[in-house]
Amino acid sequence: MKRLMITGGAGFIGSNFARHLLQRYPDLFVLVYDKLTYAGNLDNLRDLGDAFAGRYEFVRGDICTAAAVEETIRTYQLDTVVNFAAETHVDRSIMDPDSFIRTDVYGTYVLLEASRKLAVERFHQISTDEVYGDVPVGASRETDPVAPRSPYAASKAGADLMVQAYHVTYGLPVTITRGTNNIGPYQYPEKVVPLFVTNAMDDEPLPLYGDGLQVRDYQYVLDHCEAVDLVLRQGTPGRIYNVGTGTEMRNLDMTHLILELLGKPSTLIRRVPDREGHDRRYSVDVSQIRALGWEPEHSCAQAIELTVRWYVDNEWWWRKIKTGEYKEYYCQQYGWRLAQGSAT
Ligand code: NAD
Ligand code: TYD
Repeated sequence: MKRLMITGGAGFIGSNFARHLLQRYPDLFVLVYDKLTYAGNLDNLRDLGDAFAGRYEFVRGDICTAAAVEETIRTYQLDTVVNFAAETHVDRSIMDPDSFIRTDVYGTYVLLEASRKLAVERFHQISTDEVYGDVPVGASRETDPVAPRSPYAASKAGADLMVQAYHVTYGLPVTITRGTNNIGPYQYPEKVVPLFVTNAMDDEPLPLYGDGLQVRDYQYVLDHCEAVDLVLRQGTPGRIYNVGTGTEMRNLDMTHLILELLGKPSTLIRRVPDREGHDRRYSVDVSQIRALGWEPEHSCAQAIELTVRWYVDNEWWWRKIKTGEYKEYYCQQYGWRLAQGSAT
C-alpha cells in the first residue's frame, strides 16, 4: 500500500480517513476521487493540499464512469482502492432510491472491474452494519446472512455481495469493513447527531422519530478510520470485519445527552412520525477486529461529547451547508413531520 485511491474522500468518513493516513504515513500518496454530490465538500479537505503537497491530489469524478476511473488509476499508478463513495442517507433512499442503486451498486461494480483489469493489490469496501437488517436480540457476526430493509441498506448489501463475488470468481484481493454509525468532524447535518446538535444550537426543534427507543452504536469516526487502516495492513483478503464500540445507546438518551452538553432544554425535542421501515436496533459482534489488535478509543458518550464540541467550534463549516439544497430537503423530510409532531 503505497499509492492509494480514496473514492468518496470529500465526504465525512473518507476525508477523515485521508487526513489520518497522510498524517500517519509520511511515504504514502493519497488520491481522493469524488463526484462532489451534495454531500461532498472540498472544505473537508482544505488543509491537505498545503500540509501534504506532493503526496495528496484531488480528482473530481464519478465512480460510475469506467473510463475516468481507469484513467485515474493508470495515471497516478494507484495500487490500492478504498471505496467510501456512496449515497448514504436512509431517509433520502426512501424518498428516491435511484441514485443509491447507481452509485452504491453499479459504481462499486465499476471500481471492482477497474481494479481487476489494472491488477490493484487491494480493494477495500466500506460497508455498514445496516446490511444485517433489524437485530432485535444478540449481535450480528460477519458470517450472518444479510437482510437489508431500506433501499440504502439493500444497495450496500448488493455491493458487498459483488465485492465477495470478485474475490471468489477472479481472485481479487478484497476486504470489507461493516461499520456502525460514525460521528465526528465534517458529518453532513442530515444525519441525526449533527442535525440535532446544529438545530439545538439554533434553538430549533429536534425531530425524534417514533418513540426514540431505537438503538444505535455511535462510534467516533477516527476509531473507525484506525480500524480500516488496520484491516488494509493486516486483514485477510476475502474477509469481512465488523467495526463498532460493541455497545449501544438509545436515540432518546443520545438526544438528552446532546441537549445536556449544550445546556439546552428538553422542550426542544419533538416526537415526529417514524421513518418508514425503521430498523429498531443494530448491534455488531466486534471480536474479529479486536482479534487483529484494534480497540475503540472512545465510548458512544465520549464520541458524542467530542462531536458536540467540534460543531460548536466550527460554525464556519456547517452554517453555509444549512442553506439552499439542504433547506429544500429539510422542508420535504421534516415539514409535515414537525407539523404533526408533539412535545415529549
Ligand atoms: P458522505 O455522504 O458524507 O460522503 C459520501 C461521498 O461520496 C461524498 O463526498 C460524495 O460526493 C461521494 N460520492 C457520492 N456518489 C459518488 C459517485 N457516484 N462517484 C464518486 N463520488 C461519489 O458519506 P459517509 O458518511 O462519509 O460514508 C462513507 C461510506 O461509509 C459510505 O460507503 C457509507 O455507506 C459508509 N458508512 C457510513 C456510516 C456513517 O455512519 N456515516 C457508517 C457505516 C458505513
Ligand atoms: P441516521 O443518522 O439517519 O443513521 P441510520 O439511520 O443510518 O442509523 O439515524 C440514526 C438514528 O436516529 C436512527 O434510529 C433514526 C434516528 N433519527 C431521528 O430520530 N430523527 C432524525 O431526524 C434522523 C435523521 C434520524
